[in-house]
Amino acid sequence: MRTDTPQTIYRKDYAAPNYLIDTVEMGFDLDPSATRVATRIAMRRNPAAAGRDIVLFGEELELVALRVNGKALGRGDYRLAGGVLTIPGAPAKAELEIETLTHPDKNTSLMGLYVSNGNFFTQCEAEGFRKITYFPDRPDVMAKYTVMLRADRAKYPVLLSNGNLVEEGELPDGRHYAKWEDPFKKPSYLFALVAGNLVCQEETVRLKSGRDALLQVWVEDGNLDKTQHAMDSLKNSIDWDVKRFGLDLDLDRFMIVAVGDFNMGAMENKGLNIFNTKYVLANPRIATDVDFANIEAVVGHEYFHNWTGNRVTCRDWFQLSLKEGLTVFRDQEFSADMIGTDSGRAVKRIDDVRVLRQAQFPEDAGPMAHPVRPDSYVEINNFYTVTVYEKGAEVVRMYQTLLGREGFRKGMDLYFARHDGQAVTCDDFRAAMADANKRDLGQFERWYSQSGTPEVDASARYDAKSQTLELTLEQSCPATPGQKKKQPFHIPVAVGLLDARGRDMPLRLDGAKGAAKDTTLVLELTKARQTFRFTGVSEKPVLSILRGFSAPVVLKYDYSDAELAFLMAHDSDPFNRWEAGQRLATRRLLNLTVAVQAARQSGHVVAVDTVLNNIEHDGALTAALRATLNDQSLDPAFRELALTLPSETMIAEQMEVIDPHAIHVARQFLRRSLARELREDLLAAYRANRTPGDYSPDAGSAGRRALKNVALSYLAELDDPEVLELAAQQDVAANNMTDRLAALSALVNSAAAGKGEALQRFYEEFEAEALVIDKWFTLQATARGADVNTVRTLAEHPAFTLKNPNRARSLIFGFCNGNPSAFHVADGNGYSFWAEQVIALNASNPQVAARLARSLDRWRKYTPALQEKMRLALQQVASSPKLSRDVSEVITKALSN
Ligand code: TRP
Ligand code: ZN
Repeated sequence: MRTDTPQTIYRKDYAAPNYLIDTVEMGFDLDPSATRVATRIAMRRNPAAAGRDIVLFGEELELVALRVNGKALGRGDYRLAGGVLTIPGAPAKAELEIETLTHPDKNTSLMGLYVSNGNFFTQCEAEGFRKITYFPDRPDVMAKYTVMLRADRAKYPVLLSNGNLVEEGELPDGRHYAKWEDPFKKPSYLFALVAGNLVCQEETVRLKSGRDALLQVWVEDGNLDKTQHAMDSLKNSIDWDVKRFGLDLDLDRFMIVAVGDFNMGAMENKGLNIFNTKYVLANPRIATDVDFANIEAVVGHEYFHNWTGNRVTCRDWFQLSLKEGLTVFRDQEFSADMIGTDSGRAVKRIDDVRVLRQAQFPEDAGPMAHPVRPDSYVEINNFYTVTVYEKGAEVVRMYQTLLGREGFRKGMDLYFARHDGQAVTCDDFRAAMADANKRDLGQFERWYSQSGTPEVDASARYDAKSQTLELTLEQSCPATPGQKKKQPFHIPVAVGLLDARGRDMPLRLDGAKGAAKDTTLVLELTKARQTFRFTGVSEKPVLSILRGFSAPVVLKYDYSDAELAFLMAHDSDPFNRWEAGQRLATRRLLNLTVAVQAARQSGHVVAVDTVLNNIEHDGALTAALRATLNDQSLDPAFRELALTLPSETMIAEQMEVIDPHAIHVARQFLRRSLARELREDLLAAYRANRTPGDYSPDAGSAGRRALKNVALSYLAELDDPEVLELAAQQDVAANNMTDRLAALSALVNSAAAGKGEALQRFYEEFEAEALVIDKWFTLQATARGADVNTVRTLAEHPAFTLKNPNRARSLIFGFCNGNPSAFHVADGNGYSFWAEQVIALNASNPQVAARLARSLDRWRKYTPALQEKMRLALQQVASSPKLSRDVSEVITKALSN
């Protein structure tokens, strides 16, 4: 546990490392209770550095020996304080030998070397390598590694590390060894080892270069029936990166290993990717369509890091988005290309934007708001955020929008030509994009340095006489912690105009040469306020602004309900078609929420439903949703997205003061009335979108299941026997986890009599499948009617443990983040529960604890009564002893910003 006073690290303080490293040799004597690590490092003074000391980092290590050029150092020859080991007066060339002891079986943080289910794993990003040995553990120190692993042969038959296996053999006392050599220079955060009792699915593939590569997916015995999809995804990733970016696999061997205890999704260690089981294991029995899609995306993501992250890495951790934003963008494009169709691409785009709005916009508006390239941090683990990842991906996407696909590719090519083998910055990436396209992207830098979500206010004026349309765009950005005033961003705004029949009009900006032909133009908004004049506009158009979500901003435009319904029916841009429906639904949900509050305040003893039923509404939303639901020309996957109402969290972000109970009542009311009004249409969609025959996770079938199951979830709101019978039948007959879970969820969220039995049957059937039991916990934590006591009881279940991050997330995060109205119960019990769990997790796994700590980020936006209870809970955590740097940073910022 780190107890020293947390220190803030600043980007402006960056200094080059005093010493560079040529080679690293490591020897591991693996033993769960005490592993001995012997390291030999060939160092030389960095001519570009100012300092002269050798500076090494180390945490929770026992230092056994330390030698420089063969000479043992005594206590007077070095300083060791606060995790930093300093050797002053070292020679210009130094061979450093270090022996340390670590205790993997005591390591519950899952950083460094740890044990999971009896096997050894490592996690070194961001600063885990320093828990293995003293080392210049910073990403701008790159070196070639040779690794010798020694362990008991019976217990640990498989010994893996980065690169190529160069030697293996027997040792006395039933031990054996394996020696691995990584031909590429790498930073320490990409080091990995795995040792244990594992089995693999493997395949040799011919690469574009003509070389053969061995691909392996390693899992625990008994899971080989769940590796095919990960293997397929890996092969598709390899092909895609060659095709789209000309980037081939540079190794003879590429391994994926699945581990059940893991803090995040997966890790891109060179040649030895380590994955959370959640993003590897899949077959129709245990994994949903969403799981299959996530596995493809994460396998792609980690594989793509081999170039964007590993071959070209980050100079310092402030540059994290250099690799993460870019690699998320690449995995998003990969997933879209794997679907192939235009409408499939749009569905993927909508999914990605939903994540951004649901999670990143609130982050940008809260106490932890930070730029895509942060200026400071206390604990770097807290900055693996949706801002760095998802907003970072939007920033990369904007280059492509501004430069075109070909221009973007030219920029990528120049980036690799310039920086292969280097540790660089976000500025270097931007420079490559600008230089390759001879563009000035100076102002674009503000996307990296300014936090907060920009707002773009649009207004339009049509002049029939001159047939011109003036579109005025005005940008602003709210103040965020440490940044009061913002400068204008460089914002690409894709725009289209629809005529009265809903057809795209050819566009031409005033002064442009040639005939109008494009129907979407990317306007470049660079000033605080700018007016764009379209000429030759033969009739008053309906505007489609920010097509494809061309920039991560909030667009304000005064659409009428009729215009939104029109766009929903006609816009050729599928993103904006969906967006129009979301705007319409949000409007109605906000009105209903206000009505709930008013009804509550009036104190009338009348059911809220009666009040809501009496609110005038013109039925525009219902009619538009019915039309979309029944439009057979639209992809089922798209129709499912159109039918899904904005989440309670999304509605909350639209309110001045968040009232979670009113939002919940309003949204449930709307779901129920839509179900009633669309009952027959929903039943028809349910019947028409079954997927008989063998299960396939392809996007087409998944889309049909999604539409069928969203129909079922609406219908289940009616609590009518015919519908509940459908759900009960599906629960019994389903041949895949998607349908099984949807049926169970419909039952659990209804008043069905048999739901307890259904839950019990599900548990018994899947007791041995940890990933399915996670779903079982989440389903109950987020169910209608679940409350703090439900969750406390579930936490007592023998299958529950806080020690496994997936399990902790399934129940605790499921409740605190996924069930807002129950979590924010008026008596504050949700917050007490949250505080207890944060404190408990803080002791075992600070990284996961800090994630949970963020559930109260937006506390200042809630009603005064809830705010006060949240403040008390935050203070309770703040004053608890032995707070980790991770949790302390989150809580301190929540209380002060
Ligand atoms: N680089 C990893 C990825 O995005 C992220 C990651 C995995 C990570 N495990 C981690 C980051 C542990 C911090 C700590 O693919
Ligand atoms: Zn990544």
